[in-house]
Amino acid sequence: MNDATLNMLGIAGSLRAGSYNLGLLRAAAGLLPPAVGLDIITLGDIPPYDADVQGQGDPAPVEDLKRRIIMADVLLIATPEYNYSIPGVLKNAIDWASRPPKTCCLRRKPVGIMGASSGESGTIRGQLALRQVFVFTDSLVMAQPELRVPNAGQKFDGQGVLIDEELRERLRAYLAALVEWTRLVGSI
Ligand SMILES: Cc1cc2nc3c(=O)[nH]c(=O)nc-3n(C[C@H](O)[C@H](O)[C@H](O)COP(=O)(O)O)c2cc1C
Repeated sequence: MNDATLNMLGIAGSLRAGSYNLGLLRAAAGLLPPAVGLDIITLGDIPPYDADVQGQGDPAPVEDLKRRIIMADVLLIATPEYNYSIPGVLKNAIDWASRPPKTCCLRRKPVGIMGASSGESGTIRGQLALRQVFVFTDSLVMAQPELRVPNAGQKFDGQGVLIDEELRERLRAYLAALVEWTRLVGSI
C-alpha cells in the first residue's frame, strides 16, 4: 500500500440519461479514498464490433476507449442486468477492447464490478456473466466484496442521483476495497 495517485476508469453499461448505473458511478466520484481519481466513460459512440473494420484500424471511439483503459490503474464497471446477462453495448465494447488478444489492454487489468437493477436480484446474474467475459481477457476481477443494488428505483431519483444513505456507505466501502485490491495486484 502506498500513496501514489490511482486512476480509476468508470464504465457505464447503460446509455440511459437517467441510468441508475451511471448514477452509481457519479456518486462514486464523491466517495473515493484519498489520492484516487475517477474518470467516467459511456459507450454510446462505440460502433458494433466488425472484424473487417478492426482490420483497417480501430474507429476513433474505440481508440479512445482503449487509450483510457491503458491509462487506468483499475476499471470500475457499473452495469444493469439485461435478460439475466449484460447489455449488448457493454459486451460490444469489451469485444473491441479485447482485440487483438496478444496486446489486449484488459490483460492483467484490475476490475471492479457493480450493478443496479430495478428488480429484486440487483444484477446478480448479470455480474456473473460479466465475470465470465473477463476470464478470457485474463483481467484481475475483485471477487469480494460485491455491490449489488436491487430495487434501484427506490435509491435514485428520476435523474439518476443517488438518494439512499445506506447505499452511499456501502459504495464508499466498496471503493475502499477496490483501491486496496488494485494496490495489492496492480503494483500501484
Ligand atoms: C432489455 C432489458 C432486459 C432487462 N432484463 C433484466 C433482468 O434480467 N434482470 C433485472 O433485474 N432487470 C432487468 N431489466 C430492468 C433493468 O434492471 C432496468 O431497466 C434498469 O433500470 C437498467 O439500468 P439503468 O437504470 O442503468 O439503465 C431489463 C431491462 C431491459 C431494457
